[in-house]
Amino acid sequence: MEHSRIDVRKDYQKQSFNRQDLLTTPEELLQKWLTEASEVDAYDYNAMCLSTVSQDGMPSGRIVLLRGIEQDGLRFYTNYSSSKGRDIDANPKVGVTFFWKELERQVRIEGVATRLTAQESDVYFNSRPRSSQIGAWASQQSQSNNQDDLLSRFEAFQSEFAGIKVIPRPEHWGGYRVMISACEFWQGRPNRLHQRWRYERMNQDWQITPLDP
Ligand SMILES: Cc1cc2nc3c(=O)[nH]c(=O)nc-3n(C[C@H](O)[C@H](O)[C@H](O)COP(=O)(O)O)c2cc1C
Repeated sequence: MEHSRIDVRKDYQKQSFNRQDLLTTPEELLQKWLTEASEVDAYDYNAMCLSTVSQDGMPSGRIVLLRGIEQDGLRFYTNYSSSKGRDIDANPKVGVTFFWKELERQVRIEGVATRLTAQESDVYFNSRPRSSQIGAWASQQSQSNNQDDLLSRFEAFQSEFAGIKVIPRPEHWGGYRVMISACEFWQGRPNRLHQRWRYERMNQDWQITPLDP
């Protein structure tokens, strides 16, 4: 069967990841790993798989772009009425996974998503290219699509905003922050003896535990 060759194996050996490589918070260590990932892939290093669970318990994952990381969590932007937006309305617990193959690293996060304030979403929306802003008005993300209707909605909004300098943010579009509850850093190592460290939030502190691969 294609894409399932059992004879293809890789030995992971880029770098080690010991206790002295840990930083006080997972946000700080994630920042460091993101910077290192950006040095080998300037475009997709901030792509992350966001996993949500629907009201009836069905999990789903999709890629979104990380647009900021602060002590209060990871920020991303989307359509609040999309499938993921509806999942989060019903169940704000989410998973986030990064994979940087060039560095043989993975990060897994468990957290809680909350909407950014309208002002925070405005700031980011205003920084986007005009065509993406019009796209946010035109797209009814995750609804059944008719390409012609989508293009005519795009053109209609283009005309509607033609004389308007600052396009307002549609209410259905905005950001979330994912507050980290637990975060695991994985570094590939030879002989499948990968190194894993899990941070778990304990009130104001982080409990850090090594895990078997
Ligand atoms: C590289 C990449 C980056 C993406 N970034 C975003 C993003 O930042 N926000 C977003 O809403 N969708 C983004 N998407 C599209 C999502 O993967 C997804 O198709 C869309 O959000 C609809 O998901 P949903 O129907 O599960 O809500 C991206 C897709 C790819 C492949």
